[in-house]
Amino acid sequence: MKKRILLVLLAIAVVAQFFQPDRSAPPIVPANDMLVMTGAPDDIKAMVHAACYDCHSDQSTYPWYASFTPINFWLQDHINEGREKMNFSRWNDPASQEHAHECGEEIQEGEMPLESYTWVHGEARLDAVQRASLVRWFSAVIPKESGEDHH
Ligand code: HEC
Repeated sequence: MKKRILLVLLAIAVVAQFFQPDRSAPPIVPANDMLVMTGAPDDIKAMVHAACYDCHSDQSTYPWYASFTPINFWLQDHINEGREKMNFSRWNDPASQEHAHECGEEIQEGEMPLESYTWVHGEARLDAVQRASLVRWFSAVIPKESGEDHH
């Protein structure tokens, strides 16, 4: 009986692997890239690429373990949600920039990159010096919020 239950569970796990999230992204237009449009220096480019681009751009890279169900759905959720909030690959679109003024704050407070991401992406872990230079750069490049909501 136990053996049969295990076999059924195994079969479910195997079949589950055939269910994969939609990873499609529109083609990359370099001229619409945030780092290109802002003329970011190389050190900033490298940090933002490593720490933000997997979730906030159409250039996400997927590690091998990202293909296992259900990890794949969990990761894709972060990516879709991240892209929806802010997409560095579509900087020509004002909707992609709506939350950009929060970048410095998110980095300063250690909210971004997401902690779960830095567990496996050592290159995305920012030390205090890197955080400070990113915060400084973002505040110089991204206009402050012009709306009614000042804080
Ligand atoms: C692992 C995926 C992931 C990475 C990496 C990541 N983000 Fe995010 N980001 C998200 C998700 C998901 C949201 C939306 C949910 C939330 O706010 O927590 C978000 C939201 C944001 C927001 C909007 C905040 C708000 O709530 O309005 C900003 C700004 C932001 N991220 C900046 C960054 C910056 C800058 C980096 C790189 C230093 C970064 N993120 C790295 C997934 C990510």
